[in-house]
Amino acid sequence: MAIVTIGPMLKHARAEGYGIAAYNMIDYNSARAIVEGAQELNAPVIVQVSVKTVKHWGYTPIAHWVRDLATTVDVPVALHLDHCTDFDVLRRCIDAGWTSVMFDGSSLPFAENLEKSLKAYEMTEQAGVGLEAEIGAIGGVEDDKHVNEDEARLANFDECIRFVRDMPNLAVFAPAIGTAHGMYKGEPKIAYDLLKRITDQISIPIALHGGTGLTEEQFHRCISEGCAKVNISTMHKMLYVNSFVALKEQKPKLEEPLSFIANQNAAMKEDVKSVIQIFGSKDKASDARASLATRH
Ligand code: 13P
Repeated sequence: MAIVTIGPMLKHARAEGYGIAAYNMIDYNSARAIVEGAQELNAPVIVQVSVKTVKHWGYTPIAHWVRDLATTVDVPVALHLDHCTDFDVLRRCIDAGWTSVMFDGSSLPFAENLEKSLKAYEMTEQAGVGLEAEIGAIGGVEDDKHVNEDEARLANFDECIRFVRDMPNLAVFAPAIGTAHGMYKGEPKIAYDLLKRITDQISIPIALHGGTGLTEEQFHRCISEGCAKVNISTMHKMLYVNSFVALKEQKPKLEEPLSFIANQNAAMKEDVKSVIQIFGSKDKASDARASLATRH
């Protein structure tokens, strides 16, 4: 089917209490593993792309890969831009065919984050694509952004209410609730009470960043409290590299690149499928499809 926007499918996920996996793709093989894994479990899925990855491959190739992959399956597939601070990149992704983008103003003072997020909101509303916006500061390393433990900051509840007030169609809201990008050094301290206060007042689907390393129980609890988009990047990157290296170690004489690519694809796809099972989105494709708006 044609690629879809994220808003309606995330609303459905939040209403029904399941999570949609949002994987950060690396290249065509990884995008294919994400889409095929979703198809095999009949689940909606979000292929998201970091700014660094967009700049590496270029806007048009990525848009073509994901749009073509989406047409080979009958589950809803969205193409999303992850953490972006640059309006030129936002614009170019929208023009190239992304169906949603994230503006990340979380390193800015609240008033400036709000002002710039509203500007991104206006841009995405005009283009008919979804917007994700962040408040507070999610810790860890994502792309070239490093937020150390002292800089990580939970979202302020009153600011959350104020932030979303003028963005009624915000597709997904990302308040920092104590999760972090990259591998966790200790037990993550998830602020479930803050998440609950936010979701009691705000009906917009919530994004859970920093999915790698969370336990099934943590995922279930966050998803049941309104986290409808669940981001995974670090685990996917690790599998991409490790599956390649492990095969060479096992079979040092193997020289055929396609064998390595197939092995890599299988490892990434297996992870996508296990995550989909945990998030409860298996077999949700047809329900999610009913609520969709497509972008051609
Ligand atoms: P991880 O790298 O911890 O999986 O987080 C991914 C993420 O939140 C991307 O925005």
